[in-house]
Formats: sequence, C-alpha cells, structure tokens
Amino acid sequence: MTLDPGFQVFLGDCRVRVERALDHWLPTAATTPTRLHEAMRYATLGDGKRVRPTLVYASGHALGMRPECLDAAACAVELIHAYSLVHDDLPAMDDDALRRGRPTCHKAFDEATAILAGDALQTLAFKVLCEDDQMCVDRADRLRMIDELAHAAGSRGMAGGQALDMQATGSEIDLAQLESLHIHKTGALILASVRLGALAAGAAAEPRLASLERYAKCIGLAFQVHDDVLDVEGETAVLGKTRGKDAATHKATYPGLIGLDAARDMARNLIDEALENLAAFDEKADPLRQLARYVVGRKR
Ligand code: IPE
Ligand code: IPE
Ligand code: MG
Ligand code: MG
Ligand code: MG
Repeated sequence: MTLDPGFQVFLGDCRVRVERALDHWLPTAATTPTRLHEAMRYATLGDGKRVRPTLVYASGHALGMRPECLDAAACAVELIHAYSLVHDDLPAMDDDALRRGRPTCHKAFDEATAILAGDALQTLAFKVLCEDDQMCVDRADRLRMIDELAHAAGSRGMAGGQALDMQATGSEIDLAQLESLHIHKTGALILASVRLGALAAGAAAEPRLASLERYAKCIGLAFQVHDDVLDVEGETAVLGKTRGKDAATHKATYPGLIGLDAARDMARNLIDEALENLAAFDEKADPLRQLARYVVGRKR
C-alpha cells in the first residue's frame, strides 16, 4: 500500500522515539547475565513494525499531548508485545523458527534463555511505567496505566487469549469463540495501547474516550484477521515469518473458518467502523485514521 506522506513521517518519528526509549531501558548486552540481556535486546530491537507504540503516540496526539509524555507508555506496550512474541514462538506454543526476518529468540539462543527473556521483558514494561520521569501524569493516572497494562497482558487479556488459541488448535470452534480468541490474544494489547495514550494525556475523564475504545476494539480484531490473511497469502521474505504455518498446524483462523474473501471483507468493514468512531475528532486524529488503514493494507 502507498502510505500518506504525512503519516509516513509520523510512523518514522514514532519508530525513532520508541527505539531510543527501548535502547535506554533495556540493560546493555554487557550487563550480567549477558546472555539473557543479549536475548532481550535481540527480541526487542529487531525489525518490528512498532504498531502498538505508534498507537500510543497517535492516541495521545489526537488528545493534544506531546510525544515526550508518551514515550514510557509506548516503550512499555512494545516490551509486552516483544515478550509475547518470544513466548508465542516457543516449541510448546507455535514452534516457529523465523521472526522479524531472523531466527526466533529460542533458535538464536536457547529455550531456557528465551523463556527468561520473555519473563524479564514483561517485568521491565512495568518498571518503565513506574520509574519514567518524563511522563506528564499524576500518581493516580500512573497507577491507572500500570493497572491497564497488567489487565491487558494477563489471563483476562493477551495471556488468556493465547490460552484460548492453544485450546482451539486442532479442534473445531465457532465464529463467536474465534472472535473472543482474537479479541483477547491481540485486541487486548491494542486496546491498551490506545487507552494508555489517552491516560498519558491525562484524559481519564475525557468524554470521547469511549469512542476511542470502540475504534481500538475494531482495529484490534481487524489486525489479527489480517494477520491470519497474511499467513495464507503473504510471502515469507516480506512477512519475516514463515507463511502457511496456521494451516499446517491446524490453527483456528478467520480464513480457515469463513474463507479468505470473507475474512478480507470483514477486516475492511471493521476499519470502516473504526473510522466512524473518530467522527468527533479533528485533524489531530489523522494518524489514528491512517493507522486504521495501514492495519489492513500492510503486507507484513
Ligand atoms: C504479530 O504482531 C503478532 C500478532 C499479534 C498478530 P506484529 O505484526 O505487530 O509484529 P511485529 O511487531 O511487527 O513484528
Ligand atoms: C500471536 O498470534 C498473538 C500474540 C499474543 C503474540 P499469532 O501466533 O498469529 O502471531 P504470529 O503470526 O506468530 O506473529
Ligand atoms: Mg500464536
Ligand atoms: Mg505465532
Ligand atoms: Mg499469525
């Protein structure tokens, strides 16, 4: 897809900011235990799209907040995401060998190191939210943000969704169950990214927060539907992960359940619905609008 030039600049700026923050908060590879820290940096600083941090910045931007105040939240969601990918790729889960165009963490290091790297990336996310002194929020909002991320990553959020995914693998589930699985494993962290951007902007009582949340729920589901579509029709070299794994390992997916065309239509309809929920926002919400389109137009 061709990206809007203004949005391309926004994406690039977000990438630079969050990668600088990640580099700052991650212990150096020379810090003991070096193998663990090397693995944490390997898993986090690779070629990710940084969609969740960009959502934090875009959500805060829509509410008029400066990016300096959003760096910690952006960094924290990406740390949780990176951890989720390391564990998702483990032999006990999806057993994948390729991630972000290079060997998965447990292939580049070893399984025990990958498990521990995931553990430590997760706790680092909360350390950043506790300690960052650039955040422009009071203690109550900081606590709300920590709670938000803990909920989104936990058993009633992403980890719960991953449990549903494991249960569903190789068995028959219906559309409602598949929707719930996707909303939890991927939607929860995407919703949290948008909410954290708003909370970091001091907007806990903002009347349009409910609209932002509906926007986030739509793009969260669309993101995973499109991920399922890409697993069927993408190219391994572009995706940076092995194409066709879902069908080969009998994963529950939208293309598998409703077919490729219906899955594509569904993702597009969700994006239309997401955009409708931004009607009350001015041009400061344009990055959120462009991000919605990007979610279903991306090739990786
Ligand atoms: C992959 O997420 C895992 C899903 C939740 C579908 P991304 O597609 O955002 O992966 P990176 O961060 O760009 O590698
Ligand atoms: C992953 O879903 C969701 C996570 C919480 C990491 P997938 O298993 O479909 O993600 P990919 O396709 O491996 O990136
Ligand atoms: Mg998985
Ligand atoms: Mg996977
Ligand atoms: Mg996938």
